[in-house]
Amino acid sequence: MCDLDHDNRDYGFLVDAPEIRALVDETRRLTSEIADTRQRVDALRPAFGKLLAAENWLPRKYGEPDLKSGMGGGIGQYALYRAEDGSLCLFSLVIPPGSQTPIHDHLAWGLIGVYRGIQDETVYRRTDDGRDESKATLEIARQQTVRHGEFYTLLPPLDDIHYVKTVSDTPSISIHLLANDTACVTRHRFDAAGGIVTPFRSGYSNAACPDR
Ligand SMILES: [Fe+2]
Repeated sequence: MCDLDHDNRDYGFLVDAPEIRALVDETRRLTSEIADTRQRVDALRPAFGKLLAAENWLPRKYGEPDLKSGMGGGIGQYALYRAEDGSLCLFSLVIPPGSQTPIHDHLAWGLIGVYRGIQDETVYRRTDDGRDESKATLEIARQQTVRHGEFYTLLPPLDDIHYVKTVSDTPSISIHLLANDTACVTRHRFDAAGGIVTPFRSGYSNAACPDR
């Protein structure tokens, strides 16, 4: 098998596979053609589903946990494609069995689906007015189990706050297509019980974030 990943690259196709290029090309095409975000994301669903159904495009090392992870819990976050202007990224998120992400937001529209293993997702809705950046009142809006080939939509602020947990015996791998440079933007983690909001940058396991 040829070497599909480009270790010395922080932007562009960090994994250069036809399946990834096809999804990024389709995202670019639909972004230029469809101004309405919900309609654009709906139109992207077939292309995203195709990537989740395809095999042999994700390098093995980008499907493994990362013990030095910025997310904690051995969670690996591997950039597969990053637009240099920060307008789009594709990454894999690897969560070991029993581990879970913090409650967090994404701050961009996109699609997230499971490629390996099984994840439980808990989505929160915010019931405060958001005026105090350090505090939030959250209540659970929905919980769902997501399996191979299944995916969901982010349309911030709708469904943008969640956490996911691996419930399979093997690590789960989810694939994220999001309209920002997710791991390098300053997002938020939430302590639901205490109502506290903390800014954070998760960082990628395999690529650098720009200096601030
Ligand atoms: Fe997430």
